[in-house]
Amino acid sequence: MTDQPLVMVLNGPNLNLLGSREPQIYGHATMDDIAASLEEQAAGLGLAVDIRQSNHEGHLVDWLQEAGARGALAVILNAGALTHTSIAIHDAIKAISVPVIEVHLSNPHARDEFRHTSFVARAAKGTISGFGAASYRLALDAAGALRQ
Ligand code: DQA
Repeated sequence: MTDQPLVMVLNGPNLNLLGSREPQIYGHATMDDIAASLEEQAAGLGLAVDIRQSNHEGHLVDWLQEAGARGALAVILNAGALTHTSIAIHDAIKAISVPVIEVHLSNPHARDEFRHTSFVARAAKGTISGFGAASYRLALDAAGALRQ
């Protein structure tokens, strides 16, 4: 147990392949690299982070509900392609009182038309995209700034 405010960092489909997946778009950092960087940053900010990845939509819904039940300070969510399709994730964000910070490595608005709709953005507190792995670090700073 920790009494530090909790930030859950939830990652969706194909983000387990970071590092080898289309590195010209997503960069060379792996999910483990990003997690290590966030753990270090969180320690400096006095936050606890719980970082997870799943290829399954229902896991993300369950974890959003868990963030609500645990009274997390914030969720940082990169829902991958589910961003553009999942009303279930949209509804899960709406169902909890925890602010959700949408994150993307790439800038979906500068890419394919089908990436221009985000069901996450419609329910999220805000969005950070286009800065590669640094998007996650910017999001963790934003989460820390939510402390009263
Ligand atoms: C992504 C952008 C999505 O459009 C894509 O489906 C991903 C990754 C990003 O981090 O840039 O899987 O969420």
